[in-house]
Amino acid sequence: MLKQKDLMVISYSCSAGTKLAWILSLLLILVAATQVHGVSPPGFLNIDCGLTNRSTYNDTDTTLTYVSDREFVESGKSYDIMAQYMAGAANEQEKTLRSFPDGQRNCYTLPTNSTKKYLIRATFTYGNYDGLNSSEKGSLFLFGLHIGVNFWTTVNLTKWDPSNTVWKEVITVAPDKSVSVCLINMGSGTPFISTLDLRPLQDTMYPFVNASTSVSYFSRIRFGSVDEYITRFPTDQYDRFWEGWVFTMHTFPWVNKSSNGKVAELPNIDTFGLPPAILGSASTINGNYSWLNISVSASNSLATDLELLPVFHFVELGNNGSKRIFDIYNVDEPQALFSNFSPPSFLSSMFHNWFLRKGRRAYFQLRKTPDSQLPPLINAYEVYSRVQVENFTTASSDVDSMKTIKEKYMVIKNWNGDPCSPREYVWNGLTCTYPNGGQNPRIIEINLSGSGLQGELEISFMKMSSLKKLDLSHNNLTGTIPDYQVNSLTVIDLSNNQLNGSIPDSILQRYKAGLLELRLEGNPICTKVRASYCGNKKNTRTRILLISVLVPVTSLLVVLFIFWRLCWKGKSRKSEDDYDMYEEETPLHIDIRRFTYAELKLITNNFQSIIGKGGFGTVYHGILENNDEVAVKVLVETSIAESKDFLPEVQTLSKVHHKNLVALVGYCQNKKCLALVYDFMPRGNLQQLLRGGYDSLNWEERLHIALDAAQGLEYLHESCTPSIVHRDVKTPNILLDKNLVAKISDFGLSRAFNAAHTHISTVAAGTLGYLDPEYHATFQLTVKTDVYSFGIVLLEIVTGQPPVFMDPQTVHLPNWVRQKIANGSVHDVVDKKLLDQYDATHLQTVIDLAMNCLENASIDRPSMTEVVSVLKVCLPISSERQSATSTPRKKNVMDAEIPRQFQLMISGASTTSYEGSSFQSGYTGGVSEISHISGR
Ligand SMILES: *[C@@H]1O[C@H](CO)[C@@H](O)[C@H](O)[C@H]1NC(C)=O
Ligand SMILES: *[C@@H]1O[C@H](CO)[C@@H](O)[C@H](O)[C@H]1NC(C)=O
Ligand SMILES: *[C@@H]1O[C@H](CO)[C@@H](O)[C@H](O)[C@H]1NC(C)=O
Ligand SMILES: *[C@@H]1O[C@H](CO)[C@@H](O)[C@H](O)[C@H]1NC(C)=O
Ligand SMILES: *[C@@H]1O[C@H](CO)[C@@H](O)[C@H](O)[C@H]1NC(C)=O
Ligand SMILES: *[C@@H]1O[C@H](CO)[C@@H](O)[C@H](O)[C@H]1NC(C)=O
Repeated sequence: MLKQKDLMVISYSCSAGTKLAWILSLLLILVAATQVHGVSPPGFLNIDCGLTNRSTYNDTDTTLTYVSDREFVESGKSYDIMAQYMAGAANEQEKTLRSFPDGQRNCYTLPTNSTKKYLIRATFTYGNYDGLNSSEKGSLFLFGLHIGVNFWTTVNLTKWDPSNTVWKEVITVAPDKSVSVCLINMGSGTPFISTLDLRPLQDTMYPFVNASTSVSYFSRIRFGSVDEYITRFPTDQYDRFWEGWVFTMHTFPWVNKSSNGKVAELPNIDTFGLPPAILGSASTINGNYSWLNISVSASNSLATDLELLPVFHFVELGNNGSKRIFDIYNVDEPQALFSNFSPPSFLSSMFHNWFLRKGRRAYFQLRKTPDSQLPPLINAYEVYSRVQVENFTTASSDVDSMKTIKEKYMVIKNWNGDPCSPREYVWNGLTCTYPNGGQNPRIIEINLSGSGLQGELEISFMKMSSLKKLDLSHNNLTGTIPDYQVNSLTVIDLSNNQLNGSIPDSILQRYKAGLLELRLEGNPICTKVRASYCGNKKNTRTRILLISVLVPVTSLLVVLFIFWRLCWKGKSRKSEDDYDMYEEETPLHIDIRRFTYAELKLITNNFQSIIGKGGFGTVYHGILENNDEVAVKVLVETSIAESKDFLPEVQTLSKVHHKNLVALVGYCQNKKCLALVYDFMPRGNLQQLLRGGYDSLNWEERLHIALDAAQGLEYLHESCTPSIVHRDVKTPNILLDKNLVAKISDFGLSRAFNAAHTHISTVAAGTLGYLDPEYHATFQLTVKTDVYSFGIVLLEIVTGQPPVFMDPQTVHLPNWVRQKIANGSVHDVVDKKLLDQYDATHLQTVIDLAMNCLENASIDRPSMTEVVSVLKVCLPISSERQSATSTPRKKNVMDAEIPRQFQLMISGASTTSYEGSSFQSGYTGGVSEISHISGR
């Protein structure tokens, strides 16, 4: 048998004329009558993804009416394939596509009838639509598909001819009144899709498919003298794709048989709805041979352990009274899958059986039994692999409520596909429970605080029967609170909105019964109410966060952050007022504002809103009299207050001003406590942004942040005399303002802290993973210590990885990067969240720079000034990127370099390849090949 690389690739189709010749006369009439008009059988949904020129058209080959995908998907962008591939496109649908550069999961929602069986097919023709040559570059280009909330398959277009089409099919039972098909970004290229077809099947068909088992198409082949590369609708009324078994007579001893006689179906096995054209056509082999091998192999994308289900179809089309008996083997196993099979005359018969296959290939053998007079015969076979239906869709009442909410408030976020399932794609802001035992997930918490919601409070929130916590604070909800008897809710936070009117009794009663925690402060509704749910504080004026509109919620929820320390001799807590008495004169003149404890208490609303906790203390959100937001860092360590270093340090810091340093606004100091007041940084810190999920930073933003941070450090090192060594450069200390400008925080402070606590100097002088190795030897802190730490920060920015992590053993980021590069390329280290959208030309420069900062000997490291100048070279990048990669290259389909994992391959086939208007070179989820007959 020939090896895969030696096999012929068949890229083949026939003209419409010969195609039609093959179709039975009855069907011919049907085709002729319907060629002009579109016909779509009931329930057929034919979606041409990315279609923009028109909203619908009748496909000339199939007569099916294709529609644009606009009403089935909310995200993505439409593209045409590159002009050079247009003429060769297999059909109209392959000319356009929808691509999904944003988000991890993007879903189409197809209307279905609950519990009905469907065949769903998606096709993918890359056609170099983005000019990036992703399929030919050599680096991985693949993405995943989910059917509903379960993994279906991978679409692997690595080293793939861009003009070729991949198709994937699944047969599934719709769990509900819609089924979603989702494209999953696996960090190896932007997912896209060309066509999506939905075909209802009869309930009796494919009996092995049920609510808990779906099957993914692997291979589907028809035999006999077939001229079409793909047989589909209208020949097959269910529009399955059947590939014609292409062969040449002189290299393979095939004998074709066909019959115009009516083929009946055996009772009880009309389970496959095979078209007469396929039942009436078969292949057998020359009588000198006794067996026939069929090899089916999966693409590289499929898992190595597969549960396969072959289905064979046989009809005896005339044996002149001779006996035809054969066994069917799975070549790896000694006992036959099916023994002593004799195809009934003009009766369709089939057999199917699950078996587990290790490896990507399955071999079947049809072997003549000793007493058979004729060799085996076959009409068609199908091979499927099992799709696990493990995860359940969210309860449909919750889905309906969320749909209403999403439409009403026009929430975007990642609200796509099923709200809760699978777990890793749960909608931002929702918390779900996942009960065992076949029950659907339920939504138990909704947190849409600060999400820019406008309009009335949607009653759907109240109607969700499993919802326990509802947080809609800091939005712009108006009108009254709907009166609805809530039963499951235990927390409702509507604080800081524009709600008016009266509080409904239904809610008030539940609150009074102690069943409900209610927060309404900051609403007009509270103007006349003194109850505790309206807040007992004076300063409850509604504050509409202007950032809430700009900043996506994920960040906003975690955003609030920063800073540290206040200290009081803690064991015996005195009453708060005692502290006011300790305000005392400082000997130094410091230019920034000095706050009293009472003032801090006021601006932080009695230290209510904690936005961060560090090793040294707690950081509170505060609002000054002029509405400026601040972060109040309260230090917990007593001795700091007594440290003589603290005030001089504050004095120094108050003189340090740079756009990339967080500005110190003021401080509070007395015998018992210390606090620092900084500008509030609404986008939080860099660590959070890099680790955050959905709204990650893009390449350009990352480089800007790196440059900002570098400039901040450069200022501390070069423009201050004496130089200020930060000592604790790390991503949590790089904060982002609302425009994503990075500012360094906590500079200088570690020194003050350190002086007071020499015994914990290593903590103060750096953080695990960022520590200069030379420091361990010398205990000397220099500006180069900061450069080292900055090198780690730079690697974090590029890779998205923490400085120290498990992989599977504990590994230090620089070592991980070195190892990855040594075993692959510099591209392997780039953060997968960038989804390959980065500037490849400057990547190496940035990595080299980081590595340079990480030199063991501090003398070998660059200065921050040098770092800044290198980073500047790497920006701006956006415009250069396009032109560098957009030269299209067309490869010959026959080019040996193109892997053919999906190609139809036949050993010993002739070298003829056909050009045509149909699928130019289809291939499938599987590859089929046939080996030479060797037995006699
Ligand atoms: C498609 O065919 C149907 C009739 O079957 C016709 O009503 C419709 O106008 C056609 N659509 C287009 C876009 O030609
Ligand atoms: C759902 O069922 C209705 C009524 O049987 C039928 O008309 C419709 O075509 C079906 N829709 C789908 C998508 O199967
Ligand atoms: C859509 O229309 C534009 C402008 O008429 C044309 O350039 C483009 O090729 C069309 N796309 C397709 C897929 O027909
Ligand atoms: C089901 O969900 C879990 C958790 O999200 C996921 O790991 C698993 O792969 C899913 N199963 C399938 C078949 O997709
Ligand atoms: C995708 O295909 C490429 C090229 O054939 C192969 O090297 C790679 O292993 C495949 N990847 C996966 C995940 O299947
Ligand atoms: C809140 O809604 C009111 C009334 O619709 C509107 O005037 C105001 O501009 C909104 N505020 C924000 C921040 O959207």
